[in-house]
Amino acid sequence: MDKFVIRGGNPLVGEVSIGGAKNAAVAILPASILAGDTCVIENLPSISDVAASARILSDMGAAVKMLNRSTLEIDTAHLTDTSVSNDMSRQMRASYYFLGALLGRFGKASVAMPGGCDLGPRPIDQHLKAFAAMGAEIDVRSGMIHVAGKLTGAHIFFDTVSVGATINAMLAAVRAEGQTVLENVAKEPHIVDVANFLNTMGADIRGAGTDAIKIRGVKELHGCTYAIIPDQIEAGTYMVGAALTGGNVLIKNVIPKHLEPITAKLERAGAIIEEYDDSMRVYRTGDILPVNIKTMPHPGFPTDMQSLMGVLLSVAKGTSIITEGIWENRFRYVDELRRMGANIQVEGRTAVVEGVPELSAAPVRATDLRAGAAMVMAALYAHGESEIEDIGHIKRGYEDIVQKLRSLNADIRCVHVPETVMREAL
Ligand code: EPZ
Repeated sequence: MDKFVIRGGNPLVGEVSIGGAKNAAVAILPASILAGDTCVIENLPSISDVAASARILSDMGAAVKMLNRSTLEIDTAHLTDTSVSNDMSRQMRASYYFLGALLGRFGKASVAMPGGCDLGPRPIDQHLKAFAAMGAEIDVRSGMIHVAGKLTGAHIFFDTVSVGATINAMLAAVRAEGQTVLENVAKEPHIVDVANFLNTMGADIRGAGTDAIKIRGVKELHGCTYAIIPDQIEAGTYMVGAALTGGNVLIKNVIPKHLEPITAKLERAGAIIEEYDDSMRVYRTGDILPVNIKTMPHPGFPTDMQSLMGVLLSVAKGTSIITEGIWENRFRYVDELRRMGANIQVEGRTAVVEGVPELSAAPVRATDLRAGAAMVMAALYAHGESEIEDIGHIKRGYEDIVQKLRSLNADIRCVHVPETVMREAL
C-alpha cells in the first residue's frame, strides 16, 4: 500500500546506471531449467518480476543462491516439479516461459494461465501453435495449461509477430529432435539475448534478430555464466525524463543501437542526444516539439514507451498523433494524465495529443507498469505535489527508481500507508 509523493519542477541532472533487461531476465531464468546444471546469471535487475521468477524456480526444486545483488546461481539438476501453480503464475505474465522450458527438458509442463499487466486481451495461441507443431498435446482446463509430448523439429510460420511465442518456441525447440525453423518472428534485442544465453549453454540457434530463426536440436545443454543486456525501456524512461524536465542526464550501461527507435523520436521531439560506446547524454535546450508515433514490433517504436512519449508530447508545442499498434488497451494512463491538465482525445487505438503549456500536480494511479512510470515522469514535470498510488506495478519493472531519481535531483519519496489507515479511509 505504498505510494510515491513527488514535487515537480526540478530538472533531472546527473548520471544514472541502467539495470539488466526485465523482459530478457524473465525468459532467461526459466530457460536455465533446460541446462539441468548450474547457471550463473549476471546483471539481473532488482525488480519484483525477477524475484517472482526466482521463487517459482526455487519452489519447483531448483537450488537458487544470490551471489550478489544482481547475480543468481541456479542449479536445476534436481528440479523435478513440472507445474507452476495459479498463485505464482498470476504474479506475472512471463510465467508462460515455464511452459517452453519445462516441455523442452521434461516433455511435459502444467502452468496456470499467466497474469501481468492488463493491456487488453493477451492470447497465447501462437505459443501453443508452436508447441503443437513440434508434437505436443495441449489441454487447457480449469485455468491450467497442460502440454506434453516428445518434441520433433518443425517449420512454424507465426500468424502474428510475438515476443513471447518466439522465445517460447525457441525454448521448446533447443532440445527437440531435428531442426526447427521459426518464421515471422519477433526481433527485439531480448530475443537475441535469450538465443545467446541458450547458445552459451550449448544450443544451436542461428538467425535471432532476423525474420527467421533456425534451431538444430541438441541432446543436452550445460551450465554457463551469462550477463543479461541492459534494459532498453528503463533507459528510454530516463531519456524521456531528461528531455521532459529540460535536464541533462548521462545514462550509463546502455547499448545505444538498441535505443535507436527511441532516440530517433526523441530527437524529433527536441531532445539533444549524444551517443558514446555504452552510455548516452540526453538534454534539451529548445521547446518540446510535436511528433507522430505508431508503436510496432522491433525495430519500430516500442509499445512499452508509448505512455512515456504520451507524457512528453502532452506538453509539446503543437498536436501529435499516437497510434498503438500492439495492445488494445494501452491508453488507460490518459485518464490519469488528464487529471494533471493534459488535453488528449482517444478514439480506439489512436490518441490525439494537443500540447498544453503546463501540467499541474494531482493524485493519480499507476494503471500498469509503463503507465506508472509515465505518471512518475509527469509528476516530476508538473507544478506542485503529486501522489501516485498502486506503485506495485512500477516495482515490477524499475529497480531502485526512487534512489535513481533522487540522485538526479528529483524530489520523490516513497510513503508507506499502513493497511489500517487504508481501511479507515475506505
Ligand atoms: C512482451 O509481451 C513484453 N512482456 C511486453 O512488455 C511488451 O509490451 C510486448 O512483448 C510487446 O513488445 C514480456 O516480455 C514479459 P507479444 P508478450 O506476444 O510477449 C498478439 C512491459 O511493459 N499475440 O509480443 O506477451 C498480442 O495480443 C510488458 O514490459 C497473439 O495474438 O507480447 C499482441 O497484440 C507489457 N497471440 C501482439 O501479439 C499470441 O499467442 C504482441 O504480443 C501472442 C501474442
